[in-house]
Amino acid sequence: MLSKRLSKVADLINDCNNVADIGTDHAYLPIFLVQNSKAKCAFAIDVNSEPLAEALKNIQSANLTNKITTIKSNGFDFINDKDISLDVVTICGLGSPTIVNILSSWKKPQGQIIVCSNTEVSPIRQWAFKNNFEILFEDFFVDQKKHYWLLQISTKFKSSILKKDLLLGNKNYFINNQNYLFYLNNEINKYKSILLKLNKKNHSEQYIKTVKKIKSIEGYVNAINKIS
Ligand SMILES: C[S@@+](CC[C@H](N)C(=O)[O-])C[C@H]1O[C@@H](n2cnc3c(N)ncnc32)[C@H](O)[C@@H]1O
Repeated sequence: MLSKRLSKVADLINDCNNVADIGTDHAYLPIFLVQNSKAKCAFAIDVNSEPLAEALKNIQSANLTNKITTIKSNGFDFINDKDISLDVVTICGLGSPTIVNILSSWKKPQGQIIVCSNTEVSPIRQWAFKNNFEILFEDFFVDQKKHYWLLQISTKFKSSILKKDLLLGNKNYFINNQNYLFYLNNEINKYKSILLKLNKKNHSEQYIKTVKKIKSIEGYVNAINKIS
């Protein structure tokens, strides 16, 4: 059975020809997608041999070697100079800076991109914004006491992302999301305690930055509470 985290990713995928799971490790996600007819076939990609061997073992146990291909590749290197079209790309279980590095090395981004990151996703929103790609959906949730950010990006639709949403996301996705509100209130408290330790005169630049950060998160939380 898939973890809550990977189930949330799988829920966003339906009826596609192929999926490339970058950083697949055990290949649980592509196996689930093919077994449940959400994808006709899949590429299970990993930069390291050991996880790839584990992926192959699991794919063999599931009798899916004819539908899931394991490929050793650093991100999109396997596709960059080839004429393969991808319907869906998934990148899960990595931090946002690594995910952005992987996405930035993709010469021809295409199809839908679903990322589930374990760090805040403003760098990924920035990447989508810069490339004029649309964000179709966002979520924030807790699984096994860890925070996860889910982003669904379409390379087909032009971006309607607003600059003001780059830091924390479009509020509409987070109405009534108590986990996100709890996380944001903790962030406010974290920055407030940093502020207490800063000397206004000696650290004026950092002080102003921290005050701005607190204000922007507070404004965001208040706006969500107003809609909820
Ligand atoms: C923590 S595991 C996540 C596994 C799985 N995607 C999940 O969410 O459960 C991260 C995997 O990404 C692989 N990885 C890290 N950087 C990569 C890159 N640039 N290209 C391909 N795979 C990468 C690692 O080898 C590792 O197997």
